[in-house]
Amino acid sequence: MRRLESKKIIVATHNAGKLREIASLIGPYGFETQSAAELGLPEPEETGTRYEENAYIKAYAAAQATGLPALSDDSGFEADALDGAPGVYTADWATRADGSRDFTYAMEKVEKALQDAGAISADKRTGRFVSVLCLAWPDGYAEYFRGVIEGTLVYPPRGQDGFGYDPMFQPEGESRTFGEMTAEEKHGWKRGDKTALSHRARAFKLFAETMLEAFPGTVDTGFPAGNA
Ligand code: IMP
Repeated sequence: MRRLESKKIIVATHNAGKLREIASLIGPYGFETQSAAELGLPEPEETGTRYEENAYIKAYAAAQATGLPALSDDSGFEADALDGAPGVYTADWATRADGSRDFTYAMEKVEKALQDAGAISADKRTGRFVSVLCLAWPDGYAEYFRGVIEGTLVYPPRGQDGFGYDPMFQPEGESRTFGEMTAEEKHGWKRGDKTALSHRARAFKLFAETMLEAFPGTVDTGFPAGNA
């Protein structure tokens, strides 16, 4: 595993919701972040069929363009009754004919597909959010961190918080959807109690434990010693 020697990281995303979440997760570690969108970098085409491939395409493009390590997130929403769809195509399911993204429309589409598949009862409506973080260097070297949260796909959507498909996802063990939770609740990222609930926080926890804690002079992460 390569050490992170830079205090500046490019967040390789053009998605405002992801940027907000990644910036708030990484903020306490004292890193300076800039996003690919802020730098006016082009958005590369995501041609992969796995989260890891798309995460690499985004992180490597930003690292190459800036000469700095870049962190990307490729994520998706998976329904078991749909054999894991929309999966890596989660963002595409929200894209309308004019190219705009509409998540009310996307959730309706998922619901229609679930109904067509006969997934009516809660036990047939299981699914998950997956997040793969990729940290890539300008020379092409990369590290990956995967986080998953299992849950139930509910309809109609509930809550106004978060972004994307949050209002349709009730994580296991919770009575509220991600859309009904504050950002702190969604990520489970309260200082000193880092259980990491969301897929992104779980991936980020791995990243923080292996990469940020190894950085000389990093701030206390609040993780209990030896936490798995
Ligand atoms: P991509 O990783 O940019 O290809 O897109 C992933 C898609 O999954 C995004 O458009 C989001 O709508 C959705 N998604 C990923 N993470 C979350 C989340 O934490 N909440 C809600 N939707 C998410």
